[in-house]
Amino acid sequence: MSGLFGYTGAAGAFDHILHGLSKLEYRGYDCAGISLLLNGEITTQKVAGRLSALGEPTALCPELKQSTCGIGSTRWAPGAAAQQSDIPPYGTARLSLVLSGMIENYRELRAQLSGEGYAFDSTSDGEVAAKLLDWLYKGNPVEALAKANSMLQGSYAIAVLFADYPHELYGVARNSTLFVGRGEGESYVTSDLSALVEFTREYDTLGKGEVVCLSPDNIRVMNQQGNLLTRETQTASQDLAQVRKGGYRHFMMKEICEQEQLLAEMLRSRIFKGLPSFDRDGLPEGLFTRYHRVLILGCGTAMHAGALGKEFIEQLAHISAEVHLAAEYRFRDPILSDNTLVIALSQSGETSDTLSAMRLAQSKGAKVLAIVNVPGSTMAREADYVLYAHAGPEISIASTKVFMLQMGVLYLVAIEMGRTHDIIDDSKARDLVKALLEATKSIGQVLEQNEQIQKQAREMARTQSVYYIGRGLDWPMMMEGSLKLKEVTYIHAEAYSAGEFRHGPISLVAPDFPVVALATQQMLIPQMLDNIREIRGQDSNVLVICRNSLSLDESLEQSAVRLPDLDDLFMPIPAAVALQLLAYYTAVAKGRNVDAPRHLTKAVTD
Ligand code: F6R
Repeated sequence: MSGLFGYTGAAGAFDHILHGLSKLEYRGYDCAGISLLLNGEITTQKVAGRLSALGEPTALCPELKQSTCGIGSTRWAPGAAAQQSDIPPYGTARLSLVLSGMIENYRELRAQLSGEGYAFDSTSDGEVAAKLLDWLYKGNPVEALAKANSMLQGSYAIAVLFADYPHELYGVARNSTLFVGRGEGESYVTSDLSALVEFTREYDTLGKGEVVCLSPDNIRVMNQQGNLLTRETQTASQDLAQVRKGGYRHFMMKEICEQEQLLAEMLRSRIFKGLPSFDRDGLPEGLFTRYHRVLILGCGTAMHAGALGKEFIEQLAHISAEVHLAAEYRFRDPILSDNTLVIALSQSGETSDTLSAMRLAQSKGAKVLAIVNVPGSTMAREADYVLYAHAGPEISIASTKVFMLQMGVLYLVAIEMGRTHDIIDDSKARDLVKALLEATKSIGQVLEQNEQIQKQAREMARTQSVYYIGRGLDWPMMMEGSLKLKEVTYIHAEAYSAGEFRHGPISLVAPDFPVVALATQQMLIPQMLDNIREIRGQDSNVLVICRNSLSLDESLEQSAVRLPDLDDLFMPIPAAVALQLLAYYTAVAKGRNVDAPRHLTKAVTD
C-alpha cells in the first residue's frame, strides 16, 4: 500500500507535500520519499522509516525548499524499506514517478524493458512503471503516459514529474482514483481526497484512459488521444471528519464497505503466478516447511480470526494447530518445541496480553510470525517474521475490516503450508487461490442484502439476550458475530457450538430469548436444521443466516439472510459481513455510539 501527493504552485512544494503525505501515512509507514524540481533538475530524497524523518533539517538540502513543484509518496515496504532503491519516488534523470496501488504485470514489463537495456535496482512495480515511461517518453508527456497506461495492468494511480516541464505535474489512473485539485495559483494531485481537502475543496477525478496535466493555474484533462476534455469540478463536503468517513455516517460502516477492495488488493499483492507469495514480506524461503505444529495467539476479534485460521491450516495443511487466548496463555508454562510456529494476531500490534504471550513463547525458543495491521508496532518489531494485514487505519473501535484481512492472510498461509507440506499440489493450490479471490466478490453481494439485514436488526434491537450458534467453521464465526453485537449494542450475546447447545444452554431459550443460527457448512446442514427445529419447538425466534441454496420452511424463510454459495472453506467471508451488518444496524436502531462504544479502547495496553 502507498499514498501519493503532488504540488505545483508559487509556494514551497516541500512543505505542502510533507503536509499532504502526513494525511496519507496510514497507507504506508515504512518509508517515504519526495522528488522536487529546481533549475530544471529533479532531486529525490528518500527515508526508510516514518515520514517525519523527511522533515528533519539534515534530510534535505535547504536550497531545495525553494522548489515550487514536486511529488512524494509514503509506502508500506517492510522487507524492502532498508534499501533506498525500493523507496519511492522512482525514476531516471528525465522523470520521477510515484504510484499508489499495484501493477500486476510488472514482472513481464520488467523483462521486456531489460531487453531494451534498462537495469533495475529494486523489486518494485513502481520502478518498472518509471522505466517504462522513460522508454516511451519522446518529449511529449501526455503521449508517453497514454501509451504507458495502455500497457500497464492492475489498479493504480500515478503522478509524474518531467525535468523538461519544470512547473507541471502529470497523472494517470486505472481501477483506482487519482484526485486533482485547484487552489489559488496552485494545483494538487493525490490518491486520497482526505489529503486534498487540507488545501482545497474543488476537485476532479480521472476517468479510465485519461491523462491529466497540472500547472499552477490550470488543470487539463485529456483523453487517450491527447484531446482536451471539458470537466466540471466537484466540491468536497465542508466537514473534514465527514470527508474522512467518505460520506458514511460511521467509520464502522465505512470500514465494512471497504473490505471487498482491501481484501482483493491484499490478496493480489501476495499472489504470484497464481500461488501465495510472501517474497515481498521478506519471509525466508521454505519457512513453512520447518514447522509441524502451529500455535495461534490473540485476543478478542484477533483470536476469533485465529480460531478460523486454525481450521484453515488443519484442513489444508493437515498440520495440528491450536488457538489460545493470549490473556490466558501469557500466564502458562507452555510446552513448545522447535517444530512449532507461533502465530500472533493483532490489529494494533500493541495489545499487552498478546505481546506478553508472544514474548513468553519466544523466551522458550519459539519463532513468532506476527500478523498485525499497524506497521512499526511493537509486535511487528519484536516478532521474528511479520505479515501486515494492510487494512489501513481502523478507526471504529469494533474491528471489522482487520478481522477480514487477517482471515485473508491466514487463508494464504494455510494454502502455502498445504502446498509446501505436499498436502495439496500446485494445481489445487492455484484453484484455491482463484476461489479465494473470487470469494472477495461475495462481500459486495452481502452488502446488497442491506435492507433485509436492517429489518432483522430492528427486531434484534428489542431483545435483551441472544444466542449465536453454528457448527464447524460457523462456530468461531459466531464467536466473532456475537462479540460484535455485544460490543456495539450492549445486548447480551453468547456464542455456542450448535452441537454443545443441547447440553445445557438451550434451557434458557424462550420467546423473548432469540437465536441466530449460521448454516453455511454443507456437511453439517442436517445437524443445524435439527438444532433449528428444536429451538423453534420452544417457541423461540430463530434468525437463520445461510447459503442461498439451502431450502427453509416458509416461517424461517421470511426472516432469513441469504449468503452467496461458495466452497465451505470460504463461507466465513460473506458470513462475517452479514454478522457485522447485523451488529451495526442493531446499534444504530438502539441509538448507540457505534464507533466508540462505552468502556472500550482500540488497544488494551494494560
Ligand atoms: C473487537 C476488538 C477487540 C480486539 C482485541 C485485540 O472488535 O476490537 O476484541 O480485537 O482487543 O486487539 P488487537 O487486535 O489490537 O490485538
